[in-house]
Amino acid sequence: MEFHRTHKPEAPSPHGRIRYLSRREFLAVASVALATSCADETGSQGADPSSGGGSGGGEAGGDGLGASGAGGGAGGGAGGAPPVGLGPEPPDPWEAPGEQDSDSFAWGVQTGDATSSSVLVSMRTKEASVTLTLMRGVSDGWQQVSAGMAATPEDGVVHLELEDLLPDTTYALAFYGMDGQRRSRAVRFRTALEPGTRRRVRFGATSCLGSANDPWPNLSHTLAERLDFFLLLGDTIYGDNAPDAFDYPTKFQTALSLSGLNDLTAGTSVVATWDDHEIDNDWSWSDPGIQQHYDDALVAFRQAIPQRKGAEDRLWRKLRWGTAVELFVLDCRSERLGGNYISPEQMTWLKQGLSDSQATFKVILNSVPILDFSTTMLGNLGGSNRWQGFPAQREEILSHLRNNSIGGVLWVSGDIHFGAVGRLDKPGGLGDDLWDVICGPAGSPLNPGGYLLGENDRMPIVRMAYNWVLFEGDPETGSMLVRFIGDDGSALAEITLQLT
Ligand SMILES: [Fe+2]
Repeated sequence: MEFHRTHKPEAPSPHGRIRYLSRREFLAVASVALATSCADETGSQGADPSSGGGSGGGEAGGDGLGASGAGGGAGGGAGGAPPVGLGPEPPDPWEAPGEQDSDSFAWGVQTGDATSSSVLVSMRTKEASVTLTLMRGVSDGWQQVSAGMAATPEDGVVHLELEDLLPDTTYALAFYGMDGQRRSRAVRFRTALEPGTRRRVRFGATSCLGSANDPWPNLSHTLAERLDFFLLLGDTIYGDNAPDAFDYPTKFQTALSLSGLNDLTAGTSVVATWDDHEIDNDWSWSDPGIQQHYDDALVAFRQAIPQRKGAEDRLWRKLRWGTAVELFVLDCRSERLGGNYISPEQMTWLKQGLSDSQATFKVILNSVPILDFSTTMLGNLGGSNRWQGFPAQREEILSHLRNNSIGGVLWVSGDIHFGAVGRLDKPGGLGDDLWDVICGPAGSPLNPGGYLLGENDRMPIVRMAYNWVLFEGDPETGSMLVRFIGDDGSALAEITLQLT
C-alpha cells in the first residue's frame, strides 16, 4: 500500500524533496519520487563547512554555517577562519511551533542511514494523518525547507526518505497531527559529508538496552553532543524476554518511548545492526520455530529503526561520511552457518570494501567482540559466541588487513555487557595492532566477568558501568578520541587511539 499525499506542492525547490515509502518500499528503499514541496531557499553561499579537513573541495555550504555557526563542538570555526572543527550547527535547537503531544506521538521520530543527500525517517503515531515540517540549520537559526506535506500512516507508522538534501548540513523536522497544532517531538539530524571531503567526525555508539537500567539515562546525554550519527550495535531490544516475549513490534515501541532512546533519536540519526536478542538469546538456525521468529523480528527491526538494505536485501551494508569515515555494518548473527561467523559472501564484501575504501577511518560495526579474550582472565568464557570461536574466519579477515596494509580500521562491538578498549591480540598475534572498542551496555546487567580483567597495556580501559561511547575522529592526524559516558553524563574513561 502506498502512502497518500494530499498536499499540493507550493513551490518546487532543488533541495528537500520528500519521498514517501510504503512499508515494502521502505524496506527496499526503492526508487519512486513522489513529492516536492519546499519553501524558497534564501541562504547565501558561505564558506565550505567541510573543507577544514584539508580536502579543499566541496560546495556543501550554502548556509555560511561553516564560517560562523560551528557551535557543535570543540574546534569549530569562528570569526571567518576556515572551519576546522566539527560540522555546522545553528546556535540553538529548533523550537518547533505547536505543542508536543506525548500521547499521540509517544515514540518520537527516528532518522537513519544518512547519506550526503538523503536520510530515512520513520515515525509511529496514533494520528490518522500527519504533516511534516522540515527545517535547515543556518548560521543564526533555522530556515524552513518544507511544510505541510501530508502522509497517511500505515499500521500507525510513516516511512519516508528525505532526498536532495545538502551535504554536511544540520536539519530538524517534526510531524504535526490533524489539527496542525499538536506535534511530535522535533528531531535533529545531519547529512553526511560530500564525497571527497573530510573533517573531524563525532559519533556515538552503544549496545544492550536492557531493563536493568531503563530508561537508559546515559543515552540522554547524547543530545548535548550534536553528533554526526550514532551506532546501535545490537540488543536494542530483548525480544525474547518477558513481558511481551517475541512480540517484536511492541518491544520496539516500548524502547522508542523510553527517554534514553527517545532522546538519542531526537538528537541524531542512527546506523543500526542487530545482535541475538533482536530475535532470541544465542539463537541458531537449528532452533525449532526460528524461521518465523526471524521473519517477524526482521520486519519489526526495519520498521522501527530506519535502515537501508545491502545487496540482495541483506543487513550488511556500507555508509560513507566523505573520506573521513566509512562504516561497515556487519550482520554478525543471522549468517552463522557452516561454522562461519559471517557468510562467505559477507566476508568477501567486507574484505573488498576495506581494500577499496578511501576513508581515513574504516569503522566496522561488529555486534560481538573480535578481541580475543582467551589470553585474558576471561579465557574462553562465552568465547564460542564471539569471533574467537570462529578462528578460521577471524584469521581470514585479520590476515587480509595485515597483508594488504589496510590502515585506519577500528572495530566497534557490543554484546559483552562491560565497556572496554583493547587490542585484538596479545603481542605477536595477527591483530596486535588493531583496536576493539566494546561499547555499552546502556542498560543490560553488567557482566561480572569484567571484574576478572585488569587494565593494562593491551586493555587500557575496562569499565563496569552503564555507558555509551563518544568517538571523535580527526582525519588529519588519524587519531580517534574514545570517551565512555555514564548515566550522569560524566566521562568514565577516555583514550585517544592512533589509527593511521
Ligand atoms: Fe546484550
